[in-house]
Amino acid sequence: MAMIKFTIITLFQEALDPYLKTSMMWKATEKGLAEFNFVNLRDFGLGPHKSVDDTPYGGGDGMLLRCEPVFNAIESVKAKDPDAKVILPTPVGEIWNQKMAREFANTFKSSHYIILCPHYEGYDERILSIVDYKISLGKYVLTGGELPALIIIDSVVRLIPGVLGGENSAEIESFSDGDNLEYPQYTRPQEFMGLKVPEVLLSGNHAKIKEWREEQKIIQTKKYRPDLL
Ligand code: ADE
Repeated sequence: MAMIKFTIITLFQEALDPYLKTSMMWKATEKGLAEFNFVNLRDFGLGPHKSVDDTPYGGGDGMLLRCEPVFNAIESVKAKDPDAKVILPTPVGEIWNQKMAREFANTFKSSHYIILCPHYEGYDERILSIVDYKISLGKYVLTGGELPALIIIDSVVRLIPGVLGGENSAEIESFSDGDNLEYPQYTRPQEFMGLKVPEVLLSGNHAKIKEWREEQKIIQTKKYRPDLL
C-alpha cells in the first residue's frame, strides 16, 4: 500500500499539530496512508540560545534563517532516508496548483517529503542549494512556511486513494480535469426560501444529469473564474 510521509521542520509545531490531528488528515494517519513527523529547528540552533537566525549581510531589516541549523536539521532526516525530497514554501517558488498536488500524490511507491518552514524575514539564499521543490502559495507574503506546509499536505493527502469517503470524490471536483470548476451541487430540502433545486437533478435520468453537469462546469467557470478559460 502506498503511503506518503511528511517530515516538517519548524519552530512552531504547535501551529501545525492540531490540524494534522483533525478530520481527513487524522483519518489518513489512522489508516496508515500518511505519516506526519516533526523536527524542531530549535534543536539544531547555535550557541547557548540555540539561535537559528541572524542579521543580513549588507544591512536591512529583520532576521534571516541561518544555513547551519537548516542544513543540520535536513541532514538528520536524510541520514535515515537519503531519498527524502525537500520542499521549501517560499514566495519565489512555482505557484502551487491541483496538477502539482496530483503529481505529489501519484507516487506509486512510498515517498517522503521534508517541508522546511522558514520564519522571520526570510532565509540565507544558500539554503536553496539543498531544496528540491520551491513552492509559492500565491502572490502574497505570509509570516512563515507553516500555513503553506498545511495547504500543501492537505491538498496532496486528500488525493491518496482511500483517504476521502467516495472513491470518486477527488476526481469529480474542481480542476480535476483541467482548469474547470466543479458543477453546482444541492442537497435537501428541494426548496429553501423560494430557491429550488434544478429540476433535472430530481429527474432520475442519469444521462441527462451527466450532460447537465458537463454544461454546468463551463457555465460555472465562465461565471466565477473567467480568467481560467
Ligand atoms: N512564505 C511567505 N509567503 C509565502 C507564500 N506566498 N507562499 C509560500 N511560502 C511563503
